[in-house]
Amino acid sequence: MDVHASAPPQRLTDGFGRRISYLRISVTDRCDLRCRYCMSEAMTFQPRSEILSLEEIAALADAFIARGIRKIRLTGGEPLIRRGVPDLARMIGRHLADGTLDELTVTTNGTHLARHAEALHEAGIRRINVSLDTIDPDRFRHVTRWGDLAKVLEGIAAARAAGLQVKINMVALKGLNDDAVEPMLRWCAAEGHDLTLIETMPLGSVDEDRIDRYLPLDSVKRDLEQRFTLSPLAERTGGPARYWQVEELGVRLGLITPLTGNFCDGCNRVRVTATGKLYMCLGHGERVDLRAALRSGTPGAIDAALDEAMALKPLRHGFRIDARGAAPAVERHMSVTGG
Ligand code: GTP
Ligand code: 5AD
Ligand code: SF4
Repeated sequence: MDVHASAPPQRLTDGFGRRISYLRISVTDRCDLRCRYCMSEAMTFQPRSEILSLEEIAALADAFIARGIRKIRLTGGEPLIRRGVPDLARMIGRHLADGTLDELTVTTNGTHLARHAEALHEAGIRRINVSLDTIDPDRFRHVTRWGDLAKVLEGIAAARAAGLQVKINMVALKGLNDDAVEPMLRWCAAEGHDLTLIETMPLGSVDEDRIDRYLPLDSVKRDLEQRFTLSPLAERTGGPARYWQVEELGVRLGLITPLTGNFCDGCNRVRVTATGKLYMCLGHGERVDLRAALRSGTPGAIDAALDEAMALKPLRHGFRIDARGAAPAVERHMSVTGG
């Protein structure tokens, strides 16, 4: 026996004893839309020369899986605008077949989904989240600044036809879609999709003041309870949503409430950006440079970086939307870390 052999790398656990089992990977910070709560119209993106190759992303995914990551989500920006993402899904998807990964998923805006739905299913993906804040074409164009709803609906239909379960992510926005929650619920019920409502988060500067759009979900839930029976479900998907069954409509409703119902105690997630920075929390700046570790070629460098990262993970975010003109909690947009 080699008495000098180092101990095998441990499963990822942060300084507060939370097991980290869910990795979100932003494959690009770019997007073909400019949702008003997410981006400003004039965005600056990372230079392409800084972006990890797909092979490097797959190598990082391998390293995380070896440390006990069981669920991976590909996000962006819009992941499906980057060429080769279905190939990346196939590379990572190999771990589904060998049992070292439980789930591979994608969060997409749906604009390029029609083209890729089958390939995603072939890679082993079974569930996707589609960001869709309204099913009214004019309002969709307004919220996204130029998006074509028909393309997204076509993408969703193709996803279903390919055998993918669809969850719609709708960011609740005062004055933009507060009257669209019930129509969206009814549409999701009719189409057989789940629906998750999300509170807008103060990430990166946008062209409007988030306080004007902030719609707390505790009040949306109270409103819905006047009209429907919401039965709590024990179900968890590994993400931050809490779920209810809307009995009268037969649809599952998730709520993601970073502002009105903090869920950080149960956090199991970290996120890698397209340039290989590992962020430990959506609401803080602590990060480690995985690209440097990967490119150093030094054995053990990635594991050492992951250990350093675990010690840096903060207990909780400090998001607030309560003062006009306040700077965002972090300068980074959601599209950098992929949520
Ligand atoms: P599933 O539960 O697997 O469906 O996924 P999910 O809810 O983790 O993923 P999705 O990409 O649909 O994310 C939905 C929303 O939750 C996005 O707006 C994310 O930014 C947000 N979200 C995910 N993780 C966190 C987190 O750790 N903190 C906060 N504040 N928001 C998060
Ligand atoms: N606050 C809340 N959700 C956001 N998203 C993008 N920016 C924000 C924000 N500032 C959502 C998108 C997508 C998910 C990954 O994050 O609509 O559904
Ligand atoms: Fe693009 Fe998604 Fe941001 Fe909209 S919310 S601009 S679709 S990354």
